[in-house]
Amino acid sequence: MALRFNGYVGVFDSGVGGISVLRELARTLPRENFAFFGDSANAPYGEKTRDQVIRLSRDIVDDLLDQGCKAIVIACNTATSAAAPTLRAEYAHVPIVGVEPALKPATLAEGIERILVMATPITLRLDKYQQLAARWGAGHRIVEVPCAGLAGRIERGNLDADDLLELLEQLIGPYRGQVDGVVLGCTHYPFVARQIKEVLGDVELFDGAAGTARQLERRLAERGMLSKQASHGRVEFLSSKDTPEELALYRDFFKM
Ligand code: DGL
Repeated sequence: MALRFNGYVGVFDSGVGGISVLRELARTLPRENFAFFGDSANAPYGEKTRDQVIRLSRDIVDDLLDQGCKAIVIACNTATSAAAPTLRAEYAHVPIVGVEPALKPATLAEGIERILVMATPITLRLDKYQQLAARWGAGHRIVEVPCAGLAGRIERGNLDADDLLELLEQLIGPYRGQVDGVVLGCTHYPFVARQIKEVLGDVELFDGAAGTARQLERRLAERGMLSKQASHGRVEFLSSKDTPEELALYRDFFKM
């Protein structure tokens, strides 16, 4: 039987957030085919335990590989922090690329001294972020804001609604005028980049999507696995909340 996603790159997140990474992957690697899986029925991941995130991630990766995917992008900071080492050990033959909060580029950028890091509670707690902060944070003033509830709210769309702006005001309003740069350490947050700037004023935003796309390109190239098709690749959307409305929401986020 033909595999549905033979030779595709499988990309997943707890929900719509990973689409901010998918857009960059499709721009950087236009000839690749992508199968995006959003686990919206189980979102948000950022307030679950590490073991729960590992179990959910493993099921998704199993499924994408069973359907023929050649590589996996974990388009989720939370799942990368919680599950990437386990997944890489279990699927050693498959290129698995993760995302990480863009703290390194933020600390290297000109004129950025005070940095606000927005991420899920679990991302900020786990080793991956702690190691990044220890390595790159020296010499900068870094404030970490665990944004409980924000990814879950972005999942529901309607991104200019008052309740979403109020939630942002509660979470980051107290830092208005006090930061130069903001690390968007959750792949959902680029979808509210404009709203974040409305709350904080003139700040520079950093996210990990472009770095992830370059990393995927390198990993595929070094194994001779880049797509050789002449035409533009396909992008397919799948969701654990498998309704026409949810898939339409995914397509809208992809076009944003
Ligand atoms: N988009 C995810 C991340 O990058 C997870 C958000 C969530 O499900 O809590 O962390």
